[in-house]
Amino acid sequence: MIPVKDKEGILRMRAACAMAAKVLDSLKPLVRPGITTMDLEEAGRAEIARLGARSACFGYQHGSRRYPAHTCISVNEEVVHGIPSFKRILREGDIVSLDIVLEFNGYIGDNAYTVPVLPVAPKVQNLLRVTREALELGIRAAQVGNRIGDISNAIQSHCEVHGYGVVRDMVGHGVGVSMHEPPEIPNFGRRGSGERIRPGMTFAIEPMVNLGGYATRTLADGWTVVSSDRSPSAHFEHTVLTTEKGPEILTLPPSAPVAKA
Ligand code: MF3
Ligand code: CO
Repeated sequence: MIPVKDKEGILRMRAACAMAAKVLDSLKPLVRPGITTMDLEEAGRAEIARLGARSACFGYQHGSRRYPAHTCISVNEEVVHGIPSFKRILREGDIVSLDIVLEFNGYIGDNAYTVPVLPVAPKVQNLLRVTREALELGIRAAQVGNRIGDISNAIQSHCEVHGYGVVRDMVGHGVGVSMHEPPEIPNFGRRGSGERIRPGMTFAIEPMVNLGGYATRTLADGWTVVSSDRSPSAHFEHTVLTTEKGPEILTLPPSAPVAKA
């Protein structure tokens, strides 16, 4: 059963998501050669605190492990859940995925964006563009009356015509009072499959796409997921509310115009 948010829940989702978007947006311009991923963590931690929110990543439990940072910063072949480090110095040509998940007033906002440290290779620039487009197409498929598989298929088909590997080991998800609620929203699947979309659902739609094959593995730190062939990987994510008037992106950056998918 996919939870449906009531009026109050939607208001709280809006607030949490606006904050998550604000934090993510504040980190993007910091990404440049010479800084470390720990610098981004420190800025993210401070901004989350300034807003009076709480990182949903810090202390997040997976098996017996707890995630040790307030942000996830994944560089190049790192797909997701990269742990910020003083030792990871960014260089020209790197791509840096910033993933911000925070809780405010009992509700969670989740969003991610991959920033290039310019200049990057044209092949990698294309990977970023296509993954961003795939997120847009996935959001556009999140129409009331459609099914979850319509989102999945829109993302998969756009990425695969470009020959990219769509990650299968991690998926998008419902989000609300918990970071991960039903349903799972794979970035691959058949049109017309899965549960039907109704108004008031909130989804984290998040294509994770590799320049090479789709296989991934987790490093010995227990968190960092990398592409098995070590090819660069992109990750873009929004939290979206489904409405009768169409999907509404709740994690639009403050600078962006109010847009509908
Ligand atoms: N957006 C990531 C997810 O949905 C954030 C995970 S937080 C972490 O899985 F603690 F697991 F890193
Ligand atoms: Co997510």
